[in-house]
Amino acid sequence: MAPAALGCGLAVTLEPLRELTAAQLRQIDGEVGLVGAVMEATATLTVGHETAQLCLQVIKACVHECDLGAESCDDRRIQQAHQEGDAAGSPVPGMMFLVTDSEELPGSVLAAYERAASAGFQLACEAEVGRLLAALAAAVPGGGRVLELGTGVGVGLAWLVHGLGARRDVEVVTVELDDQLQRTALPAPWPPWVRFESGDGAEVVGRLGQFDLIFPDAPGGKIFKLRRTVAALREGGVLVVDDMDLTRHDDEQLRSALAVVRHRLLGNAELVCAELGFSSGVIVAVKRRS
Ligand SMILES: C[S@@+](CC[C@H](N)C(=O)[O-])C[C@H]1O[C@@H](n2cnc3c(N)ncnc32)[C@H](O)[C@@H]1O
Repeated sequence: MAPAALGCGLAVTLEPLRELTAAQLRQIDGEVGLVGAVMEATATLTVGHETAQLCLQVIKACVHECDLGAESCDDRRIQQAHQEGDAAGSPVPGMMFLVTDSEELPGSVLAAYERAASAGFQLACEAEVGRLLAALAAAVPGGGRVLELGTGVGVGLAWLVHGLGARRDVEVVTVELDDQLQRTALPAPWPPWVRFESGDGAEVVGRLGQFDLIFPDAPGGKIFKLRRTVAALREGGVLVVDDMDLTRHDDEQLRSALAVVRHRLLGNAELVCAELGFSSGVIVAVKRRS
């Protein structure tokens, strides 16, 4: 690696998918500092017009490769990113980590994150949560059904579909209150077993039947009327609730509401819960078999 070929400055720009808390900013700043240290360059972070998650993945991949001494983390990769940034009319001269790391994300998921970025949608699930969703979707039994409350632009959906792969024996239903938003997800090439529903998740969930995996990712069905969502879970079914790390939320009301959600999940005798302290904070709850 010869960072001198690029000069000793390393400018990193990223656009958060959702508003960053002070703790997240510190973490990202630390990652950027680490990349700077590895490259023997002075790294500066600008929160701007790119996708934070994708940028972070590139940063992490780069640091990891450097740790392993891999060829691919040399200045050619950085230079290429640099040139692509320039070609794309980067708002920050010298921006490096513009490239999306398509080897890290499935194509359909990458397309969904790009859709989120171009729509300015900042509420898409984080990649770590997405990977968990994909893994759990892969475990859904034959004839299984999956439900997402809050389609957004289809990022969580893309992860779920990725996990289900070429299966034809499943159904995925995704519910969104905002029709216009959901319409942005529709043109993607979804399998025929994906069904889009419009409406308030808290209301719609009552008439959709039973599910093996539910991702309640909207206020309706998560913060409001969570019990209806739990009622729609089959025995042995799995509920994945993200954004449960309260320290990430600056809004006091939201923190209180999420604390209630946590209490309701953990205190529900029908559920066996595990709190996972990664990504946005996840509670995985499995409905007991009687
Ligand atoms: C956190 S985002 C969903 C992100 C999506 N699940 C993903 O992983 O990319 C929450 C979404 O829920 C939608 N929403 C808000 N209230 C809702 C409700 N009561 N019922 C259904 N969707 C709702 C919002 O419009 C927004 O798109």
